[in-house]
Amino acid sequence: MEDIQMNNFQIKSHIHDYEVEFIGDTGETLKSVIKEGDWIIIDNNIKKLYAENLIPILNENKHISIDAVEARKSYQGVESIIKVLIEGGFRKNHRLIAIGGGITQDITAFISSILYRGVYWFFFPTTLLAQCDSCIGSKTSINFGEYKNQVGGFYPPNKIFINPHYIDTLSEGEMKSGLGEMLHYYIVSGPEDFQFYKKYFKSAFTDKEILASLIERSLQIKKRYIEKDEFDRNIRQVFNYGHSFGHAIESLTHYRIPHGIAVSYGMDIANYISVKLGFIPESVRNEVRKVIINFWSGYEINEINIDAFIKALSKDKKNVGKQLGLILNKGYGKIFKNVMDNNEHFRGWIEEYFAKELLF
Ligand SMILES: NC(=O)c1ccc[n+]([C@@H]2O[C@H](COP(=O)([O-])OP(=O)(O)OC[C@H]3O[C@@H](n4cnc5c(N)ncnc54)[C@H](O)[C@@H]3O)[C@@H](O)[C@H]2O)c1
Ligand SMILES: [Zn+2]
Repeated sequence: MEDIQMNNFQIKSHIHDYEVEFIGDTGETLKSVIKEGDWIIIDNNIKKLYAENLIPILNENKHISIDAVEARKSYQGVESIIKVLIEGGFRKNHRLIAIGGGITQDITAFISSILYRGVYWFFFPTTLLAQCDSCIGSKTSINFGEYKNQVGGFYPPNKIFINPHYIDTLSEGEMKSGLGEMLHYYIVSGPEDFQFYKKYFKSAFTDKEILASLIERSLQIKKRYIEKDEFDRNIRQVFNYGHSFGHAIESLTHYRIPHGIAVSYGMDIANYISVKLGFIPESVRNEVRKVIINFWSGYEINEINIDAFIKALSKDKKNVGKQLGLILNKGYGKIFKNVMDNNEHFRGWIEEYFAKELLF
């Protein structure tokens, strides 16, 4: 890129290796990548917001624009896209090009993995969450009815093009969500990475170069784990840190709380339980909490009912039989899975957390 110097890198995958490239002008890159017969699947908001840069290319190429809403990420939602592709002459040697956030990614990845038993696809992530996290790692899930991300597989893009300038038009909530999501990578990684994040995350709201280096580092951390455990069978599971509690918060607030903000609450709750179990001193929890509370204003969760919260946790995919499989904290770089009873003790800690630890 002209103004922000970033390092491109390769990811090894059991499906196919792929590259992450940092770019400055999506239009120019698209022109050099797209070939006759390729189709673009683009988020309607991006099409509107970046019309000047993209419309000339969209006009010259086949494209489908979609509303990035969870309902679209479903069997019903992908059906009409597959129909248009098949009837519009899309062939196995053509490629799909996704431009948008995680919803556009999941839809395109899912279709690419099943259509003609697999076609090539490229991804231009446009949200912070997609740039710092979901764009790598191969997961391709769609929703099943009201159940999120229940159907899918592993099918990475053939190439990812990250343009940090897309962040300019994100709302503050989406920005905080991306930064909240990013934080869990830095805590999982170790003390140096956490300190790096702590030092720079506030500047990332206004300084694109700092944001770009936080994105790059976050992906580098994720890369280490997904290259060893692409299919999420063992070590990659530490990235569920904050997520069991976070998913419960998302669903109980009917997705009013953006994913990465829910995960930030989730990390604080995981740390609270980790203190109770003697895994970390209060000082570690407080140091992380000082960062996390920056994401909470405007996203209060006081209305959550404890019974419903415990019930949601008891259904988590990572549970072991009737026991809770929670990712807890033994210190920076020492995040681990702890299997524990979902008993009165645990319930007491959760009640105490909701009664005393929420600021609002
Ligand atoms: N496959 C994976 O590994 C993975 C990982 C994490 C999340 N996800 C999925 O990703 C989805 C969430 O994705 P997301 O948070 O990236 O965003 P999104 O795709 O849900 O989009 C959120 C909103 O932001 C808008 N938007 C996108 N880019 C924008 C920009 N540059 N400026 C202004 N508005 C913009 C969209 O139109 C939409 O209204 C969820 O469905 C989640 O399950 C998938
Ligand atoms: Zn997440």
